[in-house]
Amino acid sequence: MKLGFITDLHFRQAVAGTSPIGRRECRRVGELLDRSLAELAREAVDVVVCAGDCVDDAAQPGALEDVARLADRFAASGLPCVVLPGNHDPAPDVFYGIVPRPPRVLRLGDCELITFGDDLCLPGVQRCVRSPEALALMEDLLSTQPPDVALTFLIQHFVVYPEHVGPGYDHTYANHAQIRAILERSPRRLVVLSGHQHRGYQLEIHKNVAYFTGRALCERPFPYYVLHAEGGRVRVEERWLAAPE
Ligand SMILES: [Fe+2]
Repeated sequence: MKLGFITDLHFRQAVAGTSPIGRRECRRVGELLDRSLAELAREAVDVVVCAGDCVDDAAQPGALEDVARLADRFAASGLPCVVLPGNHDPAPDVFYGIVPRPPRVLRLGDCELITFGDDLCLPGVQRCVRSPEALALMEDLLSTQPPDVALTFLIQHFVVYPEHVGPGYDHTYANHAQIRAILERSPRRLVVLSGHQHRGYQLEIHKNVAYFTGRALCERPFPYYVLHAEGGRVRVEERWLAAPE
């Protein structure tokens, strides 16, 4: 199974201007997304996952139009796409009024994907919380190992691991310890995919759970990923749309 992975697009087209953070090249993202999707189609990935922050500022006029334009671009790729909202996107119910809502559980070959597009992110609050209902569902799904599932991918916008240290913006879930405790109890082989931290975190195995955070597509060198799931293991291949500086 091959999974295409992109995150943190911060797209602006109908929305005026660009991000106050200069390295986010919001107005180029339409072109960058099309190029990455074309490459992933050439690679014949089984699914494309986008882990949120699809648009740059949900509060601006034109943001819903930009969400719709992105949905069209994903659809035009012809690839099955799992698209999640992030903290820069409209709230999940509004977002999924425009973008097709992925199923909670998706089966691809010997892999299972579990999506968390409904984590609660309140305006003005930095850290996101996974709801008690979503935690209970996780516990329920992950407490058994289906015999024909080699790898289970959990997909969300926010970071589960590593923990934030020192000053600065905290990208982890407010209840990351609770989430991790459920993961660490599971008999499954788990791969936890996130975005949100634009510098990303390399694949790391911690207490038998694999964690990977992708770098932002909107920032140089405009990275996207192919994740190769082979024999119960995952390998991350990073590709760039521009030469690194
Ligand atoms: Fe972001």
